[in-house]
Amino acid sequence: MSIIFDEGQRLFTLHTKHSSYQCMAGPHGFLFHLYYGKRIDDQNMDYLILARDRGFSGNPYDAGKDRAFSTDTLPLEYSGTESGDYRIHSIGIINADGSMALDLRYKDHVISRGKYSLEGLPALYEEEKGEAETLALTLCDSVSLLEVTLLYGVFAEKDIITRAAVIVNRGGGIKLTKAMSMSIDFPYGEFDLVHFPGRHAMERQFERAPLMRGIHTVSSARGTSSHQNNPGIIVCSKETTEDFGGCYGFNLVYSGNFSATVEVDQIGQTRVNMGLDYEGFCFSLREGDSFVTPETVMCFSDEGFTGLSQRYHRIYRHNLCRGPRKLRSRPVLINNWEATYFDFDGPKLIQIAKEASKLGIDMLVMDDGWFGGRDSDTKALGDWFVNESKLKMSLNDLAGEINKLGLKFGLWFEPEMVSEDSRLYREHPGWALQIPGRKPVLSRGQLALDISREEVRNYIFDALSAILDSAHIEYVKWDMNRSLANWYSSLLPAARQAEVPHRYMLGLYGLLEKLTQKYPHVLFEGCSGGGGRFDPGMLYYHPQIWCSDNTDAIGRLKIQYGTSFFYPVSAVGSHVSAVPNHQTGRTSPLKTRCLAALSGTFGFELDITKMTGEEREAAKFWTAEFKRYQPLIHEGLYYRLLSPFDPQGISAWQFVSEDKTAALLCLVVTEVTANPPNLRIRLKGLDEKSLYRCGEKSYTGAALMYGGYVLPGPSGDYPAITVYFEAR
Ligand code: DGJ
Repeated sequence: MSIIFDEGQRLFTLHTKHSSYQCMAGPHGFLFHLYYGKRIDDQNMDYLILARDRGFSGNPYDAGKDRAFSTDTLPLEYSGTESGDYRIHSIGIINADGSMALDLRYKDHVISRGKYSLEGLPALYEEEKGEAETLALTLCDSVSLLEVTLLYGVFAEKDIITRAAVIVNRGGGIKLTKAMSMSIDFPYGEFDLVHFPGRHAMERQFERAPLMRGIHTVSSARGTSSHQNNPGIIVCSKETTEDFGGCYGFNLVYSGNFSATVEVDQIGQTRVNMGLDYEGFCFSLREGDSFVTPETVMCFSDEGFTGLSQRYHRIYRHNLCRGPRKLRSRPVLINNWEATYFDFDGPKLIQIAKEASKLGIDMLVMDDGWFGGRDSDTKALGDWFVNESKLKMSLNDLAGEINKLGLKFGLWFEPEMVSEDSRLYREHPGWALQIPGRKPVLSRGQLALDISREEVRNYIFDALSAILDSAHIEYVKWDMNRSLANWYSSLLPAARQAEVPHRYMLGLYGLLEKLTQKYPHVLFEGCSGGGGRFDPGMLYYHPQIWCSDNTDAIGRLKIQYGTSFFYPVSAVGSHVSAVPNHQTGRTSPLKTRCLAALSGTFGFELDITKMTGEEREAAKFWTAEFKRYQPLIHEGLYYRLLSPFDPQGISAWQFVSEDKTAALLCLVVTEVTANPPNLRIRLKGLDEKSLYRCGEKSYTGAALMYGGYVLPGPSGDYPAITVYFEAR
């Protein structure tokens, strides 16, 4: 059993292979958080709590004369409101009488085998029956009768604990103004916060800063998890590095507005909250209604960030991604976007496919511009019928021609959007998110559809199904190109309009579920102007996501580095594009571009008919190399060796097979110098005693890890190096 309940002490201990988590229903029924960290034996950790009277920290009435008993300073599992705790709350309520009090006390609990699921929301699942256990711990407010069931999923072998909350209204009508999935209090320690801010085409940049007193929030109110922030944060000790030290990961399985808030309180205690963004959030619950929060995936590693990332990679590949492709090799694809933008027809794509087939590429993807009157980004979104006069053929014929060349065929959609200049908008203006009487905020000139409405979802489902049934389509790129705004759904009453952002997400997840279930053999790749929705919620439906609209290999080094902290390499959509690069104007060598793309799903996004013979040979070589190394790259363990954010101008990373018999070292020098020093890279994750062959030479694992691998400092623009090691 990984969940142990000690009835006498009302103590809950959750053990994973290397970590333990403990909470306790303490005096007066308050649920105290006692411990999360390196595995402990079955010790009651309540000795860590040393309560004392601290001025201006209120006491619950039933604590009587005990002024040391304050929810303002005691470590809690989930904090109510108006109960004397002035730190960030886990939940916000407006009761039927207008008051905002919620005093949560332990009611009961259930421990069960298997992993809970969340109605309407993506969540981790058991890949093998019996690998997870669930604790459902119910807290209750005795006046309003509101209940909060805290759900804990324990994947013991994978060192992961998940948390979510189900809020059930058993009293009169109330309003929910905040709903966190989890809260955790660390009574000791000084921490750093690592998070991944960015912008369009520069997503998930690594940032680490000390946590000072006060409240620190990483959030999105854009209707998407966003390019600007990612719903993944790490709280770590000051001394934590890639390889050593303790760190906690928190990653929300949600693709819409989120918030991750960390507060360091008056006595240096640290509280971490994660859940739905609460700016403007308000959800009405009638008697009997319940509200389910998204899930937070938590992990503790005392083996630094590398240990943390490898655990997230494993659980996401096995217990989050779904479908027949989740663990299988992915097709090497060529996408026509940067090759042609809107200027293409069927014969042009067939020409590209012809060349692609000679290079070993597996699939051609027709991107934006094939439907309605879409010849620029100003029109036709929503008109999901094939523009045969532009293509000069039917979709079925085009797919057939591509298939005849030995390539699979894939297609781009942007299903959640509508252009004002479209047939769909002219017929159903009320289907777009728009506030009556106000001019809408446009972005890329487009509006979003109100996916919270069933008829809108049905239209999209039918339109996409008709296209997918009309030709042999084996891949869908699901794009989404704006931050959402104009929140108003014409079917909801005024009092419920604040619910629209979350209802949009529930609608979207429902639609994705229906489509991915109907077309299980279609590989779905997520996209939101690149990586604007690169989150675990989307990974549940799409095993890969276009990582960024920035295809510049050097820009990608930082983006893919940041992405790797939570997300597996097999999820990172990554293509080789033309030079000078379309986003940065930079020219980097083909090998460097191939290496950046190879550390993802690998593909091309350029007009190969314009490549020189030499370039085509190189592209063919790297396609074969990717296929050769794909099991190692996607299934192996990922190690960050040298950070692209460090000033030395070298970025290096490494893949090692689980059995440690093979390793691939990848390195790009972004700053070459005259008369350069030799490069010495210390490898990681090898078997000390094994002998690794590399070309003509052999080295022990210990030599490569502690002495390192040396090579002369390279010259030229952005040189790239790969070295393959195989144990004899
Ligand atoms: C944004 C995507 O990220 C690009 O790859 C491309 O599909 C364009 N949209 C098409 O409009």
